[in-house]
Amino acid sequence: MAQFTLPKNSKMTEGKVWPKPAGATRLQAFRIYRWNPDDGNNPRIDTYYVDRDDCGPMVLDALLWIKNKVDSTLTFRRSCREGICGSCAMNIMGQNTLACTMGIDDCQAETIKIYPLPHMPVLKDLVPDLTAFFAQHASIEPWLKTESAAPETEWRQTPEDRARLDGLYECILCACCTTSCPSYWWNGDRFLGPAALLQAYRWLIDSRDEATGERLDNLHDPFRLYRCHTIMNCANTCPKGLNPAKAIAEIKKMMVARTV
Ligand code: SF4
Ligand code: SF4
Ligand code: FES
Repeated sequence: MAQFTLPKNSKMTEGKVWPKPAGATRLQAFRIYRWNPDDGNNPRIDTYYVDRDDCGPMVLDALLWIKNKVDSTLTFRRSCREGICGSCAMNIMGQNTLACTMGIDDCQAETIKIYPLPHMPVLKDLVPDLTAFFAQHASIEPWLKTESAAPETEWRQTPEDRARLDGLYECILCACCTTSCPSYWWNGDRFLGPAALLQAYRWLIDSRDEATGERLDNLHDPFRLYRCHTIMNCANTCPKGLNPAKAIAEIKKMMVARTV
């Protein structure tokens, strides 16, 4: 049974309450997880107030407003601010999602609580260490593998075969699903997790790929694939509306089909 008891020095403490912006009439409160590996202190929760009339509509806008106007040490990842790069994934009001596509109003909260993605080591504040996550993605060999002679132009695919990749190719590897999966919390060192498995299925059903048997062999393991117990957190949390649990079920069906 997994143990979730935190070591003594990981006790969360009450942090700083930052001053309210002068003259603001429309305030939104935020409680944000802070941890700095360099100062030797416990993690803390800081409270900030954002002037809604001076800030964009998304949670990421509020984080940038805080960083630019209140506390430049607040650390988080972001790049595209359009739900494309996956880097601003974090836990907002108890749900793993993208800060750039989550509206402040949609949180419907007097105080918006923000934590890093759960059950991942934290590098600083809202930045999780995704080294293992990306290594697991690399382990499914996410590229086209062929044995036939390369065509003179491109590898051709019918529109119907291309359509089979819909609902899979859109994954932005944000890790919201994997870090919401209880099976991954318990066995993250051996279970590949929903994001890597959705990608594995994307290559398994690509009509141009010629390594299906090898790919299935790579997944045929009591942990890498079969630790998924169809709990469905992954599909419920994906900010792109994808369904990793269904992809995992399809891989299991492919496993069964090749043994009969
Ligand atoms: S399946 Fe969805 S939640 Fe999971 S990594 Fe891809 S985009 Fe993110
Ligand atoms: S369906 Fe499978 S992969 Fe998705 S959250 Fe549940 S156990 Fe994890
Ligand atoms: S900043 Fe790129 S997905 Fe949010």
